[in-house]
Amino acid sequence: MADLDEIKAEKDYHLDKPFTTVGDFHVKGAGNLDWGMRKRLSNIFNPKTGNTVMFAFDHGYFMGSVSGLERLDLLIPRLAPHIDVLMGTRGALRTSVSPSFRKGVALRVSSGSSMLNDDLSHETLAVDIEDAIRMDADCMAVQVFIGADGQKDSIDTLSKVVNAGNRYGVPTLGVVAVGKDMERTDRYFKLATRIIAELGANIVKTYYCDRFEEVVAACPVPIVVAGGKKLPEKEALDMAFKAMQGGASGLDMGRNIFQSRYPQAMADAVSKIVHENFTINEAWEFFEDTRSCL
Ligand code: 5RP
Repeated sequence: MADLDEIKAEKDYHLDKPFTTVGDFHVKGAGNLDWGMRKRLSNIFNPKTGNTVMFAFDHGYFMGSVSGLERLDLLIPRLAPHIDVLMGTRGALRTSVSPSFRKGVALRVSSGSSMLNDDLSHETLAVDIEDAIRMDADCMAVQVFIGADGQKDSIDTLSKVVNAGNRYGVPTLGVVAVGKDMERTDRYFKLATRIIAELGANIVKTYYCDRFEEVVAACPVPIVVAGGKKLPEKEALDMAFKAMQGGASGLDMGRNIFQSRYPQAMADAVSKIVHENFTINEAWEFFEDTRSCL
């Protein structure tokens, strides 16, 4: 059976050749999907740019009340005009977010861990497909812990969500979970993202890393990059820029937006990078000009 050494044997990712997407649909690897799947993916990835800015506020499903997310009912109305997709739990959406924002919805459907656990990897399926459809979710988000003790649990949950999603036309977003003992290397992310895509996820979320363009090239569905721990705004924008230059189809930022002193300005600056090809200097200048007006 092949092992991690096999990855070292790979040499050519054909970085100079774009992915041969089937047909003219703007989402990588989705050309053979049904109309409903492609409509929901179009609610996530802008048909004009092919990219997305997801705002992630699903942290509460295992972190409780995170700094910056204390009052979703006050935060989301301020940010909704500045992002493309709301990524949250059904509890947060139903209680604190108006359905009138007409934004894409990435619904967190896995759960099972909390900050009181050392090992977060044993998650399970929390939201069934009927409730995901009732919430009009445009994709269902599942944490996948490749290499952790809970690997099989999370792959089982991912597969259940993909099966139900294929049955009803709701895409699956597989989220690469990086436990504290896991390596944040291209070697790990190539393995994790490819496994998640091979198991049928329509979108994969992971983190930026060295040789990120190879991670993207080896993944047959769009990669969206998580922001990770709060960084100084310029560093976060630099990471966003490098991720897009490396072939990401968007960002899924949480803490680097909601823990910024200027969340709207941060979301807008990320959007300029994602949808208008702003350079890091243009985005930083935009951020500084925007925050000075707030
Ligand atoms: C939480 C998540 C978040 O959706 C993801 O990590 C993005 O949030 P952040 O940018 O704060 O990392 O999966 O478990």
